[in-house]
Amino acid sequence: MNGTDIVLDVQGLTVDIATPRGALHAVRDVSFQVRRGETLCLVGESGCGKSMTSLAIMGLLPKAARRNTRRLAVLGEDLSKARGRRINALRGSKMAMIFQEPMTALNPAYAIGEQLTEHYIHHRGASSQQARDRAVELLEKVGIASAGQRLAQYPHQLSGGLRQRVMIAMALMCGPELLIADEPSTALDVTIQAQILRLLADLQAELGIAMVLITHDLGVVARIARQVAVMYAGQIVEEGPVADIFSAPRHPYTQGLLGCIPVPGRSAPGEALGTIPGVVPSLVGELRGCAFADRCAYAQAQCLTAVPIHGQPPGQQWRCILGAEGVPA
Ligand SMILES: Nc1ncnc2c1ncn2[C@@H]1O[C@H](COP(=O)(O)OP(=O)(O)OP(=O)(O)O)[C@@H](O)[C@H]1O
Ligand SMILES: [Mg+2]
Repeated sequence: MNGTDIVLDVQGLTVDIATPRGALHAVRDVSFQVRRGETLCLVGESGCGKSMTSLAIMGLLPKAARRNTRRLAVLGEDLSKARGRRINALRGSKMAMIFQEPMTALNPAYAIGEQLTEHYIHHRGASSQQARDRAVELLEKVGIASAGQRLAQYPHQLSGGLRQRVMIAMALMCGPELLIADEPSTALDVTIQAQILRLLADLQAELGIAMVLITHDLGVVARIARQVAVMYAGQIVEEGPVADIFSAPRHPYTQGLLGCIPVPGRSAPGEALGTIPGVVPSLVGELRGCAFADRCAYAQAQCLTAVPIHGQPPGQQWRCILGAEGVPA
């Protein structure tokens, strides 16, 4: 593969959120790449910065949040200094996002046909008939029967699973090359969840899209992604090929998560990650050393200051004093 296969290139992404107690460091120096036709899963406990990372990429951060990044390139175009208007143009055409709750993206006041066609007409300069045809084609593709008749319906007339499918169709309307799906199914019941994730994986493979999939479910990571990035307290603490990380997790936090992997028949898919003793540290104020140190069985004095990164891309990399042998290196 050459450099042109890189659809998303994030280097040194930081997101700070202004709070009454001071700046909250929601995302801290996060770097990753996603290639054409590849899925990267972002995993980690609630509050570790997964959604802020994806919103920062999409230019959809809340007002109180400030983004800083060395590089944020989509299809080779660096957006780190780009104006909002340029990012808006790319969002909806080259990149799209799927949210956990479809009503974040769907407007209850408009028929779904209008919502599906609006961006297509705007970004592609298509006629309303062309946009309608495209909408029907995509609704069928995401498994919605009688697609033509659905166009006149309003979001509240659809079940949660159907809304989720409509949102996926909407994200695909303009043929994006990058898709970010933030916990796309956790609001649904387990059977529908599995169907939606399978649908996303099939579409991603068929259309050769680069996808970032955010999930709490390590079973999903194992089934769907080739690359995984494990986040903790705003940082990526371990990343690399799923097969390597699942067979030999190096960071004690990843080891903890995998120790909690759901056991078929004993735990439901989509269940939250299991418990690792202790709590996530506050992200307000200065943060030094390893944020996991106070929950880690291997912690040493060194962890409170500088933490090295081991490994080299495209292989496994981890941010810890422990080397590949499991002892400080
Ligand atoms: N609007 C906001 N104002 C202040 N702090 C926020 C805001 N949104 C998020 N945060 C904080 O930013 C940090 C990262 O949040 P983020 O939503 O990215 O976590 P997450 O990994 O997506 O969690 P979850 O798995 O629960 O969705 C958290 O500490 C959260 O409390
Ligand atoms: Mg989130």
